[in-house]
Amino acid sequence: MFETNQQEDQPTLPMQGVAQPTRAEVLQLPRVFISTHPVMAHKMTMLRNKNTPSAQFYQLVKEIGALLAYEATSNLALQECVIETPIQQMAGQRLAGGIGVTPILRAGLGLAEGFRQVIPDVQVWHLGLRRDERTLQPLEYYNQMPHQVEMQICYAVDPMLATGGSAIDAINTLKRRGITHISYIGIIASPYGILKLRQAHPDVDIYAAALDECLNDYGYIMPGLGDAGDRQFGTY
Ligand code: PRP
Ligand code: URA
Repeated sequence: MFETNQQEDQPTLPMQGVAQPTRAEVLQLPRVFISTHPVMAHKMTMLRNKNTPSAQFYQLVKEIGALLAYEATSNLALQECVIETPIQQMAGQRLAGGIGVTPILRAGLGLAEGFRQVIPDVQVWHLGLRRDERTLQPLEYYNQMPHQVEMQICYAVDPMLATGGSAIDAINTLKRRGITHISYIGIIASPYGILKLRQAHPDVDIYAAALDECLNDYGYIMPGLGDAGDRQFGTY
């Protein structure tokens, strides 16, 4: 007969017992931008509602993506160009350099579509990451990165910043490709995810539509919206 340690036999959940920062703590961090726009708050309420059907959910993700794109691109560099109006010549401005958007598959797809409604001629670089629900570690399964990376900026877009593992991994991948100026765009962030992303990539601006309370033991954001990929694509 052997003695067993009852506690070791208990299956532990990935976020069980993990210390998490508060909202107030991460709101102090540099380069963190959480939307305060009333239209965003209105759309977020519809998005979170469990009775919102998939088609409307996807439409809302695109609309929220467009609002986030508008906020996150407010500091882009411009270059002068001369054009002719029907009346006369004038000096105009256009966005300097190319702009990349990396949707983290699959939930980032709707957000990237919203981004393209604001800036249609972005390059879209798909990156497939799947979170292992047992360990919460991201696993890469698809990578369609560009050959030419001389961009003004690349936006990594993914609705949910939970443990931060997927965002950190995606930005590591972009940096390995030589992309130096990167912003992260999410819909809902957890304080834990913001802290981890801030620590791993202090040079990256973080934009989100909402900052929630915490992660549950399974690594889901509370109150959150559930599984962003399943809700967009109807795979319950
Ligand atoms: C979700 C979400 C993020 C990730 C966030 O994707 O879209 O990519 O989890 O969690 P993290 O911050 O703890 O890494 P998921 O792996 O469920 O894949 P999906 O987009 O295919 O649904
Ligand atoms: N991924 C989701 O889709 N939702 C969460 O709450 C956490 C990770």
